[in-house]
Amino acid sequence: MRYDTFMLGQKSGTRLKIGIAGCGAIGGSLARIVREEFGREMRVSALFDLRAEHAAALAGRLHIAAKTAVARDLKALIKASDLVVEAASASASYDIACECLKAGRSVMVMSVGGIVDKVERLLREAERSGARIYVPSGALAGIDALKAAGGARLKSVTLTTIKNPASFSGVDYLRRRKIDPAGINKDTVLFDGRAEKAVRCFPQNINVAAVLSLAGMGARATRVRIIASPFVKKNIHEVRIESDAAVITTRTENVPHPENRKTSYLAVLAAAAVLRQITSPVSVGT
Ligand SMILES: NC(=O)c1ccc[n+]([C@@H]2O[C@H](COP(=O)([O-])OP(=O)(O)OC[C@H]3O[C@@H](n4cnc5c(N)ncnc54)[C@H](O)[C@@H]3O)[C@@H](O)[C@H]2O)c1
Repeated sequence: MRYDTFMLGQKSGTRLKIGIAGCGAIGGSLARIVREEFGREMRVSALFDLRAEHAAALAGRLHIAAKTAVARDLKALIKASDLVVEAASASASYDIACECLKAGRSVMVMSVGGIVDKVERLLREAERSGARIYVPSGALAGIDALKAAGGARLKSVTLTTIKNPASFSGVDYLRRRKIDPAGINKDTVLFDGRAEKAVRCFPQNINVAAVLSLAGMGARATRVRIIASPFVKKNIHEVRIESDAAVITTRTENVPHPENRKTSYLAVLAAAAVLRQITSPVSVGT
């Protein structure tokens, strides 16, 4: 089964209330974009972070009063929002999304690795409440064509992710195999297998595999290769899609986010583009 993003209905004359769950690199950047660029259509209504000081610092940067903007818990954030942006962690994203949908609030999920194997349950909550789940393309080109090609038969979808070895420091899966990323001095395949396993083994690195799975053949049938290369500085994602309609290849060379080098700048902009699309009367692309 495939899952696409949906458009959120908005009452005319009201600004969409955006709540931010997780006020780090992505949550902070999106909040700033909403405030500075989308102020006519939406506003930042509430901020929540497990570390309250992160939410308070973001309120300060946005020049909004922490007393009113910082929610004391997730429930309060949801109550104050029409749409919650989850930008927290893969271990929390399913619960956050579930709570939002149960309360009839739409949710944009950034930690996609945390929902990829439970999306059916989220879908049931969304259908029940009428709220929407948005999953931006992230740091990856090709989702548009994959969704279109999925209208015919998809034969294979392969993601090859190439990153500098330093990006893999602290990954448990490698530690268990006694692979020290600091010692890698030539292109080395760290993983080649199903997306469902890649998501478990590289939880901080592999949201793109989860997005690709949801848009295409699912996490069992999507193949993921992860390569550590000392010759690259950027995070590179290559996608190859074979289908009855077309053979599609894309390559995205990502610039790291200035506040979190593990996150790609494009991922933030993709999420902002989805927010923009929600309130725009024109929809371009699949
Ligand atoms: N979909 C994509 O394309 C994509 C791209 C990059 C990162 N991500 C994911 O988005 C998430 C955020 O990334 P980031 O770069 O902003 O990370 P970050 O570390 O800069 O910020 C995360 C923030 O969330 C807070 N947090 C952690 N758990 C929380 C919880 N349960 N409830 C509320 N707040 C919590 C942290 O205190 C921190 O302030 C990560 O899970 C990351 O893997 C997605």
